[in-house]
Amino acid sequence: MLDKINRIKDEAIKFKAANHAELEDFRLKYLSKKGELSGLFDEFKAIASDQKREAGQKLNELKNLLTETFDSFKSLLDNETATSAGINDMTRPGESIDIGSRHPISIIRREICEIFARMGFTIAEGPEIEDDWHVFSALNFPKEHPARDMQDTFFISKVPEIVLRTHTSSVQVRVMETVKPPIRMIMPGRVFRNEAISARAHCIFHQVEGLYVAENVSFAGMKQTLMYFAKEMFGENAQIRLRPSFFPFTEPSAEMDIMCNCMSDGTCGCGLCKGTGWLEIMGCGMVHPNVLENCGIDSQKYFGYAFGMGIERIACLKFQTKDIRMFFENDVRFLKQFTAAGL
Ligand code: DAH
Repeated sequence: MLDKINRIKDEAIKFKAANHAELEDFRLKYLSKKGELSGLFDEFKAIASDQKREAGQKLNELKNLLTETFDSFKSLLDNETATSAGINDMTRPGESIDIGSRHPISIIRREICEIFARMGFTIAEGPEIEDDWHVFSALNFPKEHPARDMQDTFFISKVPEIVLRTHTSSVQVRVMETVKPPIRMIMPGRVFRNEAISARAHCIFHQVEGLYVAENVSFAGMKQTLMYFAKEMFGENAQIRLRPSFFPFTEPSAEMDIMCNCMSDGTCGCGLCKGTGWLEIMGCGMVHPNVLENCGIDSQKYFGYAFGMGIERIACLKFQTKDIRMFFENDVRFLKQFTAAGL
């Protein structure tokens, strides 16, 4: 019996299958029910018990060798068939390649930029890591203003004067320090606030700042510009309202609301506008003379208006998204939907 095992072992080691038919012969000869391996197991039952140990071990080794030989040739041949079919079969449908889609925040940012570009606004950008001057001091924030508080601002620990910008208004300052009026620019960018993350707030979000500085600039002109923006963004029927507000860097200041999709009389309960019928989308106002002077612009000669809007807010309104965290999770099933909208 041991001779037989050794003979089959030699044959298995030397075996090569050029095709599936040869491999099938191998299987029938050694591994099938009536094959040699099964015959050997039958013989094994009859041998003397003092020889069983050695023979049993050898027989198991042989069984492993035969099945491994069969399996490895099978996967080799299967693979070859698959690849050659792939190369030769020109009628085989192409495999689809997953292409990326534009992120909803990028879609809205682009749309905002395009709308203002049509009104002659150019684009400026500034650093995300900023100094206290550009984020607060030049914008007329008093030293004790709560916006400088640890709760709102991320400080770069070693240098207390350096912060992650809390708004894109810092870019206004950089622009006014370097560009001579007339200035008509928008400044999109990422901003950071030390806020608890929830469905309505995130510690990282995006804003677009706008600035117009020239000799004849009026609050009425600003309202007209923002009205045009709202109609382009939300459709011809969009309605806006300006509510008096306060920002240290504008005087007078306002917040702009847009009428909620539900056109509510205050009883809709749609969740977005909390039943008020209006949604706040930006802050705006006439640039404070102190800010113009801080940036080296003659406040007797020049006037300006400025506005700042949150991109996530507008994206939520346009796409009816209830939770802003979805914009940051980057789940492709969520992100894919926005190309489908054709925007
Ligand atoms: N920077 C303000 C904020 O982040 C938004 C803002 C309000 C920007 C009024 C402006 C403005 O330019 O005039 O809440």
